[in-house]
Amino acid sequence: MEGYVLEWLNLLGRWVHLVTGIAWIGASFYFVWLDNHLEIPAKEEDRAQGVGGELWAVHGGGFYNAQKYTNGVPAIPPTLHWFKWEAYTTLITGAFLMALIYWYQAEIYLIDPGVMSLSKPIAVALGILTLVGGWLGYDALCKSRLGQRENLMALVLLVALTVIAWALCQVFSGRGAYMHFGAMLGTIMVANVYFVIMPGQRAMVAASSEGVQPDPMHGKRAKQRSVHNTYFTLPVLFVMISNHYAMTWGHEYNWLVLIAMSVAGALIRVHFVQAHKGKPSPVPASVAALLLLGIITAIAPRPRPAPDASVPTVSLAEAHAIVEARCTSCHADVPTQAGFSAPPAGVVLETPEQTQAQASTIHQQVVVTRAMPIGNLTGITDDERATIDRWFLANTVGGN
Ligand code: HEC
Repeated sequence: MEGYVLEWLNLLGRWVHLVTGIAWIGASFYFVWLDNHLEIPAKEEDRAQGVGGELWAVHGGGFYNAQKYTNGVPAIPPTLHWFKWEAYTTLITGAFLMALIYWYQAEIYLIDPGVMSLSKPIAVALGILTLVGGWLGYDALCKSRLGQRENLMALVLLVALTVIAWALCQVFSGRGAYMHFGAMLGTIMVANVYFVIMPGQRAMVAASSEGVQPDPMHGKRAKQRSVHNTYFTLPVLFVMISNHYAMTWGHEYNWLVLIAMSVAGALIRVHFVQAHKGKPSPVPASVAALLLLGIITAIAPRPRPAPDASVPTVSLAEAHAIVEARCTSCHADVPTQAGFSAPPAGVVLETPEQTQAQASTIHQQVVVTRAMPIGNLTGITDDERATIDRWFLANTVGGN
């Protein structure tokens, strides 16, 4: 029953997280796009009113005319929309999912004894430290003198994030490390909204309603943080879907894959921002494409030599005996493992035929990425992994 309840909490939490995340990032992409497409207002009276840019669009059966007041408005309109709850609810639901999956079930998803055998409280404390510490460190960097030098700041951020990615992958399971990296960036993005962008907007509104020019410092600070948010978006979204791809987080150099994917994502965003401004350089998109090709090539499975004829081949019965001992507590129609109410990922491995039919995915999960058994809860040995490997090899070259 507990497993069933956990699954529903997971499903509902993820559903809301996805919807609020779409609303947030959708609005954020829209405003970046809007800003980059503004044109000088056609009417003299608009310009005199303080409209610095305007844009016409057609959408959903109507024409829209957006105008941007660059230096405050003559009077605050009675209804002013803010766009902040999308960000906050994404953080709240994200924290809920993190706590439910990676902290409450840390021994399954966060701790991998093959990486480091942590106790549950220590693992959870390190996870929380990553999220809170990431924001504090980043915020201090932005406020320091370095924060005023954009390019240097980007370089320092890249180095710091690389170190963090590496460190997380030395401590947590691959997927746990990835998820904490992404959640740390996501937390920074929402904290930027809460602690910098919103207070800046409140000050702007206050100044406008008193009829004075808003202090341009607020705008500058908020701008820096929204620029960072824009470039963090694609890396964060990669991480949020990465848990389905053990080939990335299960790789020996998983931290490098994570950073390379993040840089590629940020560069793709750079390309789109430049394209909206109408002056795209081919460099960011080309470098991103090369990076992606590089990752795809670097983590591709290597061709294997034919199995050594002197080593006895492994029968299906032997392979299935290992699967039965190490996998079926979870991968059964009715799992016996606490916390599981249905076979995870729909994979059932109860009969030799099922094991045979899924030989290739079993090999991938157990030998190549070592993602299974998850958290090595069932204590598979390296010898057993090697046996599965020999069985699979013999299988694929037509032996057995
Ligand atoms: C403690 C429970 C548990 C044990 C034991 C376990 N698994 Fe899994 N398995 C999972 C979970 C959870 C997932 C889903 C992972 C996810 O969320 O993507 C999964 C997913 C899989 C998948 C699908 C992967 C995909 O991306 O489609 C395969 C194949 C698999 N396991 C094979 C195995 C094999 C083989 C063993 C034994 C060596 C094993 N598992 C042991 C929990 C377990």
